[in-house]
Amino acid sequence: MTEQDFIPSGYEATATSGSFTWRAPSNIALVKYWGKRGEQLPANPSVSFTLDACATTTTLRYKKREYPDDDFGFELYLDGAVKDSFKPKINDFFHRIGKYMPFLKHYHFTIETSNSFPHSSGIASSASGMSALALCLMSLEQEISGNITEEDFFRKASFIARLGSGSACRSIRGELVVWGSHPEIAGSTDLYGVAYPGKVHPVFRTYQDTILLVDRGEKQVSSTAGHGLMHGHPFAERRFAQASENLSALQQVLETGDTEAFIAIVEREALTLHAMMMTGKPYFILMSPATLDVIRKIWSFRKETGVPVCFTLDAGANVHVLYPESEKEAVMEFINNELVAYYEKGHYICDRIGGGAVALP
Ligand code: DP6
Repeated sequence: MTEQDFIPSGYEATATSGSFTWRAPSNIALVKYWGKRGEQLPANPSVSFTLDACATTTTLRYKKREYPDDDFGFELYLDGAVKDSFKPKINDFFHRIGKYMPFLKHYHFTIETSNSFPHSSGIASSASGMSALALCLMSLEQEISGNITEEDFFRKASFIARLGSGSACRSIRGELVVWGSHPEIAGSTDLYGVAYPGKVHPVFRTYQDTILLVDRGEKQVSSTAGHGLMHGHPFAERRFAQASENLSALQQVLETGDTEAFIAIVEREALTLHAMMMTGKPYFILMSPATLDVIRKIWSFRKETGVPVCFTLDAGANVHVLYPESEKEAVMEFINNELVAYYEKGHYICDRIGGGAVALP
Protein backbone atom coordinates (compact mmCIF):
# COMPACT_ATOMS: atom_id res chain seq x y z
CA MET A 1 0.00 0.00 0.00
CA THR A 2 1.05 3.60 -0.48
CA GLU A 3 -0.10 6.88 1.03
CA GLN A 4 -2.31 7.43 -2.03
CA ASP A 5 -4.44 4.42 -1.07
CA PHE A 6 -5.66 6.32 1.99
CA ILE A 7 -7.19 9.17 -0.02
CA PRO A 8 -10.91 8.46 -0.38
CA SER A 9 -12.45 8.83 -3.81
CA GLY A 10 -15.60 10.43 -2.42
CA TYR A 11 -18.28 9.97 0.20
CA GLU A 12 -21.64 8.36 -0.33
CA ALA A 13 -23.67 9.63 2.58
CA THR A 14 -23.94 12.63 4.84
CA ALA A 15 -24.16 12.73 8.59
CA THR A 16 -25.46 15.96 10.08
CA SER A 17 -24.65 15.55 13.76
CA GLY A 18 -23.74 12.92 16.30
CA SER A 19 -20.86 11.64 18.36
CA PHE A 20 -18.41 8.77 18.70
CA THR A 21 -16.38 7.65 21.69
CA TRP A 22 -13.24 5.51 21.73
CA ARG A 23 -10.96 4.39 24.53
CA ALA A 24 -7.42 3.83 23.28
CA PRO A 25 -4.52 2.50 25.35
CA SER A 26 -0.96 3.64 25.67
CA ASN A 27 1.86 1.31 24.64
CA ILE A 28 5.40 0.60 25.72
CA ALA A 29 8.04 -0.09 23.09
CA LEU A 30 10.37 -3.08 23.49
CA VAL A 31 12.38 -2.09 20.41
CA LYS A 32 12.26 1.70 20.30
CA TYR A 33 11.27 4.10 17.56
CA TRP A 34 13.78 6.92 17.77
CA GLY A 35 14.42 9.01 14.70
CA LYS A 36 12.13 9.80 11.81
CA ARG A 37 12.20 10.76 8.18
CA GLY A 38 9.75 12.24 5.68
CA GLU A 39 6.27 12.82 7.04
CA GLN A 40 6.19 10.93 10.31
CA LEU A 41 7.91 7.84 8.93
CA PRO A 42 10.12 5.87 11.30
CA ALA A 43 13.87 5.65 10.78
CA ASN A 44 13.73 2.07 12.12
CA PRO A 45 11.12 -0.58 12.90
CA SER A 46 9.79 -0.87 16.46
CA VAL A 47 7.58 -3.23 18.44
CA SER A 48 5.51 -2.56 21.53
CA PHE A 49 3.30 -4.15 24.13
CA THR A 50 -0.12 -2.57 24.04
CA LEU A 51 -1.07 -1.49 27.56
CA ASP A 52 -4.43 -1.77 29.25
CA ALA A 53 -4.91 0.58 32.21
CA CYS A 54 -3.14 3.65 30.82
CA ALA A 55 -5.63 4.94 28.27
CA THR A 56 -7.32 7.99 26.81
CA THR A 57 -11.06 8.20 26.30
CA THR A 58 -12.16 10.67 23.66
CA THR A 59 -15.61 11.70 22.52
CA LEU A 60 -15.85 13.46 19.18
CA ARG A 61 -19.07 15.42 18.66
CA TYR A 62 -19.64 16.52 15.10
CA LYS A 63 -22.02 18.94 13.47
CA LYS A 64 -22.18 19.53 9.75
CA ARG A 65 -21.38 23.11 8.81
CA GLU A 66 -23.77 24.89 6.53
CA TYR A 67 -20.84 25.72 4.25
CA PRO A 68 -17.37 24.23 4.44
CA ASP A 69 -14.84 26.68 5.80
CA ASP A 70 -11.20 27.29 4.93
CA ASP A 71 -10.23 26.59 8.52
CA PHE A 72 -10.78 23.60 10.74
CA GLY A 73 -13.40 24.24 13.40
CA PHE A 74 -13.16 22.58 16.78
CA GLU A 75 -13.19 23.05 20.53
CA LEU A 76 -11.20 20.95 22.91
CA TYR A 77 -11.86 19.88 26.49
CA LEU A 78 -9.58 17.94 28.83
CA ASP A 79 -11.40 16.44 31.82
CA GLY A 80 -14.34 18.75 31.16
CA ALA A 81 -12.32 22.00 31.07
CA VAL A 82 -11.48 24.00 27.94
CA LYS A 83 -7.90 23.24 26.90
CA ASP A 84 -6.85 25.82 24.34
CA SER A 85 -3.17 24.98 24.80
CA PHE A 86 -3.75 21.65 22.96
CA LYS A 87 -5.34 23.41 19.98
CA PRO A 88 -2.21 24.13 17.89
CA LYS A 89 -1.20 20.46 18.03
CA ILE A 90 -4.65 19.30 16.92
CA ASN A 91 -4.77 21.99 14.24
CA ASP A 92 -1.42 20.77 12.86
CA PHE A 93 -2.74 17.22 13.00
CA PHE A 94 -5.87 18.20 11.02
CA HIS A 95 -3.68 19.91 8.43
CA ARG A 96 -1.57 16.81 8.08
CA ILE A 97 -4.52 14.43 7.70
CA GLY A 98 -6.77 16.77 5.66
CA LYS A 99 -5.75 15.13 2.41
CA TYR A 100 -6.79 11.71 3.69
CA MET A 101 -9.99 12.90 5.38
CA PRO A 102 -11.40 15.61 3.13
CA PHE A 103 -14.63 15.73 5.15
CA LEU A 104 -12.91 17.52 8.05
CA LYS A 105 -13.63 21.07 6.87
CA HIS A 106 -17.30 20.24 6.42
CA TYR A 107 -17.80 19.76 10.14
CA HIS A 108 -17.45 21.55 13.42
CA PHE A 109 -16.09 19.31 16.16
CA THR A 110 -16.14 19.24 19.92
CA ILE A 111 -13.40 16.98 21.25
CA GLU A 112 -13.71 15.85 24.86
CA THR A 113 -10.81 13.88 26.16
CA SER A 114 -9.62 12.43 29.46
CA ASN A 115 -6.73 10.23 30.52
CA SER A 116 -6.89 7.37 33.00
CA PHE A 117 -3.44 8.26 34.31
CA PRO A 118 -2.70 11.36 36.36
CA HIS A 119 -2.04 14.60 34.53
CA SER A 120 1.66 15.53 34.43
CA SER A 121 2.61 12.04 35.58
CA GLY A 122 5.28 12.02 32.92
CA ILE A 123 3.32 9.32 31.09
CA ALA A 124 3.02 10.50 27.50
CA SER A 125 -0.59 10.89 26.45
CA SER A 126 0.19 11.44 22.79
CA ALA A 127 0.06 7.75 21.81
CA SER A 128 -3.29 7.01 23.46
CA GLY A 129 -4.68 10.50 22.75
CA MET A 130 -3.89 10.54 19.05
CA SER A 131 -5.09 6.99 18.53
CA ALA A 132 -8.40 7.67 20.32
CA LEU A 133 -8.97 10.77 18.17
CA ALA A 134 -7.98 8.98 14.97
CA LEU A 135 -10.48 6.20 15.76
CA CYS A 136 -13.28 8.73 16.38
CA LEU A 137 -12.53 10.39 13.04
CA MET A 138 -12.53 6.98 11.34
CA SER A 139 -15.96 6.24 12.84
CA LEU A 140 -17.26 9.41 11.21
CA GLU A 141 -15.59 8.50 7.93
CA GLN A 142 -17.20 5.08 8.11
CA GLU A 143 -20.59 6.69 8.66
CA ILE A 144 -20.34 8.74 5.48
CA SER A 145 -18.48 6.18 3.37
CA GLY A 146 -20.91 3.33 3.36
CA ASN A 147 -18.61 0.38 3.14
CA ILE A 148 -15.31 0.14 4.99
CA THR A 149 -14.13 -3.31 6.01
CA GLU A 150 -12.96 -3.83 9.56
CA GLU A 151 -9.44 -4.39 8.33
CA ASP A 152 -9.42 -1.16 6.31
CA PHE A 153 -10.95 0.74 9.22
CA PHE A 154 -8.23 -0.18 11.69
CA ARG A 155 -5.45 0.09 9.13
CA LYS A 156 -6.42 3.65 8.24
CA ALA A 157 -6.98 4.53 11.92
CA SER A 158 -3.36 3.52 12.58
CA PHE A 159 -2.16 5.43 9.50
CA ILE A 160 -3.99 8.59 10.65
CA ALA A 161 -2.83 8.18 14.28
CA ARG A 162 0.77 7.93 13.05
CA LEU A 163 0.45 11.35 11.47
CA GLY A 164 -0.47 12.72 14.91
CA SER A 165 2.26 10.92 16.85
CA GLY A 166 4.40 8.07 15.57
CA SER A 167 3.97 5.74 18.52
CA ALA A 168 0.17 6.30 18.41
CA CYS A 169 -0.06 3.99 15.39
CA ARG A 170 0.88 1.13 17.74
CA SER A 171 -2.08 1.90 20.06
CA ILE A 172 -4.93 0.70 17.89
CA ARG A 173 -5.03 -3.08 17.89
CA GLY A 174 -3.13 -6.13 19.04
CA GLU A 175 -1.22 -7.12 22.11
CA LEU A 176 2.11 -6.75 20.34
CA VAL A 177 2.33 -4.26 17.51
CA VAL A 178 5.06 -3.72 14.93
CA TRP A 179 5.51 -0.43 13.14
CA GLY A 180 8.13 -0.02 10.45
CA SER A 181 9.13 -2.19 7.59
CA HIS A 182 11.18 -5.25 8.53
CA PRO A 183 12.15 -7.88 5.95
CA GLU A 184 11.31 -10.82 8.23
CA ILE A 185 7.96 -9.54 9.50
CA ALA A 186 5.16 -10.17 7.03
CA GLY A 187 2.96 -7.15 6.40
CA SER A 188 5.17 -4.74 8.35
CA THR A 189 5.25 -1.23 6.91
CA ASP A 190 6.37 2.29 7.73
CA LEU A 191 2.85 3.56 7.07
CA TYR A 192 0.94 2.00 9.99
CA GLY A 193 1.19 -0.49 12.83
CA VAL A 194 0.31 -4.17 12.38
CA ALA A 195 -0.43 -6.85 14.96
CA TYR A 196 2.78 -8.85 15.39
CA PRO A 197 2.18 -11.85 13.13
CA GLY A 198 4.71 -14.28 14.65
CA LYS A 199 4.18 -16.91 17.33
CA VAL A 200 4.07 -15.55 20.87
CA HIS A 201 4.75 -17.82 23.85
CA PRO A 202 1.94 -17.66 26.45
CA VAL A 203 4.30 -16.18 29.06
CA PHE A 204 4.50 -12.93 27.11
CA ARG A 205 0.74 -12.65 26.90
CA THR A 206 0.64 -12.29 30.69
CA TYR A 207 3.22 -9.53 30.96
CA GLN A 208 2.75 -6.87 33.62
CA ASP A 209 4.11 -3.32 33.42
CA THR A 210 4.34 -1.51 36.74
CA ILE A 211 5.23 2.07 35.96
CA LEU A 212 7.19 3.84 38.68
CA LEU A 213 6.65 7.58 38.49
CA VAL A 214 10.06 8.57 39.77
CA ASP A 215 10.02 12.08 38.38
CA ARG A 216 6.80 13.81 37.58
CA GLY A 217 8.38 17.03 36.32
CA GLU A 218 8.01 18.41 32.81
CA LYS A 219 10.05 16.60 30.19
CA GLN A 220 13.33 18.38 29.39
CA VAL A 221 12.96 17.61 25.73
CA SER A 222 9.83 16.69 23.77
CA SER A 223 9.85 13.41 21.84
CA THR A 224 9.56 15.34 18.60
CA ALA A 225 12.68 17.38 19.40
CA GLY A 226 14.41 14.21 20.60
CA HIS A 227 13.75 12.44 17.29
CA GLY A 228 15.24 15.48 15.57
CA LEU A 229 18.53 14.90 17.37
CA MET A 230 18.99 11.73 15.33
CA HIS A 231 19.51 13.85 12.20
CA GLY A 232 23.24 14.07 11.82
CA HIS A 233 23.80 12.02 14.98
CA PRO A 234 27.18 10.28 14.71
CA PHE A 235 25.70 6.89 15.67
CA ALA A 236 22.36 7.20 13.85
CA GLU A 237 22.86 4.73 11.01
CA ARG A 238 24.32 2.06 13.28
CA ARG A 239 21.51 2.54 15.74
CA PHE A 240 18.82 2.18 13.06
CA ALA A 241 20.44 -1.06 11.88
CA GLN A 242 20.70 -2.29 15.47
CA ALA A 243 16.96 -1.79 16.03
CA SER A 244 16.24 -4.05 13.03
CA GLU A 245 18.69 -6.64 14.33
CA ASN A 246 17.06 -6.55 17.76
CA LEU A 247 13.65 -7.04 16.21
CA SER A 248 15.02 -10.03 14.26
CA ALA A 249 16.40 -11.56 17.43
CA LEU A 250 13.25 -10.85 19.40
CA GLN A 251 11.14 -13.02 17.13
CA GLN A 252 12.66 -16.27 18.33
CA VAL A 253 12.64 -15.03 21.90
CA LEU A 254 8.93 -14.29 21.70
CA GLU A 255 8.25 -17.71 20.21
CA THR A 256 10.26 -19.76 22.68
CA GLY A 257 9.40 -17.77 25.82
CA ASP A 258 13.06 -17.14 26.59
CA THR A 259 12.66 -14.47 29.28
CA GLU A 260 16.41 -14.16 29.82
CA ALA A 261 17.07 -13.26 26.19
CA PHE A 262 14.01 -10.97 26.28
CA ILE A 263 15.51 -9.07 29.21
CA ALA A 264 18.84 -8.60 27.42
CA ILE A 265 17.19 -7.11 24.33
CA VAL A 266 14.67 -4.92 26.15
CA GLU A 267 17.07 -3.39 28.68
CA ARG A 268 19.70 -2.76 26.03
CA GLU A 269 17.11 -1.03 23.85
CA ALA A 270 16.11 1.25 26.74
CA LEU A 271 19.70 2.16 27.53
CA THR A 272 20.53 2.69 23.86
CA LEU A 273 17.63 5.14 23.54
CA HIS A 274 19.07 7.14 26.43
CA ALA A 275 22.60 6.76 25.09
CA MET A 276 21.44 8.40 21.86
CA MET A 277 20.17 11.37 23.85
CA MET A 278 23.32 11.57 25.92
CA THR A 279 25.48 11.69 22.80
CA GLY A 280 23.40 14.05 20.65
CA LYS A 281 24.05 17.66 19.83
CA PRO A 282 22.80 19.16 22.10
CA TYR A 283 22.89 16.31 24.65
CA PHE A 284 20.44 15.45 27.41
CA ILE A 285 20.33 13.20 30.43
CA LEU A 286 16.71 12.24 30.90
CA MET A 287 17.28 9.70 33.64
CA SER A 288 17.22 10.97 37.20
CA PRO A 289 19.35 9.61 40.08
CA ALA A 290 16.26 7.65 41.16
CA THR A 291 16.03 6.02 37.71
CA LEU A 292 19.56 4.67 38.12
CA ASP A 293 18.96 3.52 41.68
CA VAL A 294 15.84 1.64 40.59
CA ILE A 295 17.71 -0.02 37.71
CA ARG A 296 20.50 -1.16 40.04
CA LYS A 297 17.98 -2.54 42.56
CA ILE A 298 16.17 -4.44 39.80
CA TRP A 299 19.47 -5.98 38.73
CA SER A 300 20.36 -7.11 42.26
CA PHE A 301 16.87 -8.45 42.92
CA ARG A 302 17.00 -10.42 39.67
CA LYS A 303 20.43 -11.82 40.48
CA GLU A 304 19.45 -12.83 44.01
CA THR A 305 16.07 -14.35 43.24
CA GLY A 306 16.21 -15.44 39.61
CA VAL A 307 12.88 -13.67 39.02
CA PRO A 308 12.80 -12.61 35.34
CA VAL A 309 11.98 -8.96 35.94
CA CYS A 310 13.44 -6.18 33.81
CA PHE A 311 13.05 -2.50 33.10
CA THR A 312 12.43 -0.34 30.12
CA LEU A 313 12.30 3.43 29.75
CA ASP A 314 10.69 5.89 27.43
CA ALA A 315 12.15 9.32 26.78
CA GLY A 316 12.00 10.32 30.43
CA ALA A 317 12.94 9.29 33.96
CA ASN A 318 10.02 6.95 34.76
CA VAL A 319 10.78 3.25 34.94
CA HIS A 320 8.56 0.57 33.43
CA VAL A 321 9.05 -2.67 35.37
CA LEU A 322 8.19 -5.65 33.14
CA TYR A 323 7.57 -9.20 34.38
CA PRO A 324 5.31 -12.24 33.85
CA GLU A 325 2.08 -12.37 35.82
CA SER A 326 3.27 -15.50 37.66
CA GLU A 327 5.90 -13.34 39.40
CA LYS A 328 3.49 -10.59 40.38
CA GLU A 329 3.46 -11.25 44.09
CA ALA A 330 7.24 -11.40 44.39
CA VAL A 331 7.79 -8.32 42.22
CA MET A 332 5.14 -6.21 43.96
CA GLU A 333 6.63 -7.12 47.32
CA PHE A 334 10.04 -6.04 46.00
CA ILE A 335 8.59 -2.77 44.63
CA ASN A 336 6.77 -1.98 47.87
CA ASN A 337 9.68 -2.88 50.12
CA GLU A 338 12.77 -1.87 48.20
CA LEU A 339 11.76 0.73 45.66
CA VAL A 340 9.26 2.71 47.71
CA ALA A 341 11.78 5.48 48.39
CA TYR A 342 12.30 6.23 44.71
CA TYR A 343 8.92 6.84 43.21
CA GLU A 344 7.28 10.11 44.02
CA LYS A 345 4.71 10.22 46.80
CA GLY A 346 4.08 6.51 46.58
CA HIS A 347 3.06 6.68 42.94
CA TYR A 348 3.07 3.79 40.58
CA ILE A 349 0.64 2.50 38.00
CA CYS A 350 -0.06 -1.21 37.67
CA ASP A 351 -0.57 -1.97 34.03
CA ARG A 352 -0.46 -5.07 31.88
CA ILE A 353 -0.52 -6.13 28.27
CA GLY A 354 -3.87 -5.32 26.67
CA GLY A 355 -5.83 -6.02 23.51
CA GLY A 356 -6.19 -2.56 21.96
CA ALA A 357 -8.73 0.21 21.58
CA VAL A 358 -12.47 -0.19 22.11
CA ALA A 359 -15.48 1.80 20.93
CA LEU A 360 -17.71 2.92 23.79
CA PRO A 361 -21.45 3.46 23.50
C1 DP6 B 1 10.86 6.89 23.20
O1 DP6 B 1 5.70 8.80 19.17
O2 DP6 B 1 6.08 10.35 21.11
O3 DP6 B 1 8.53 6.45 23.32
O4 DP6 B 1 6.17 10.81 16.55
O5 DP6 B 1 7.19 12.87 17.51
O6 DP6 B 1 4.98 12.06 18.37
P1 DP6 B 1 6.33 11.69 17.78
O7 DP6 B 1 7.10 10.86 18.88
P2 DP6 B 1 6.60 9.74 19.86
O8 DP6 B 1 7.98 9.01 20.18
C2 DP6 B 1 8.02 7.92 21.05
C3 DP6 B 1 9.40 7.54 21.34
C4 DP6 B 1 9.63 6.51 22.42
C5 DP6 B 1 9.87 5.13 21.80
C6 DP6 B 1 8.70 4.40 21.25
O9 DP6 B 1 7.58 4.55 21.73
O10 DP6 B 1 8.94 3.61 20.32
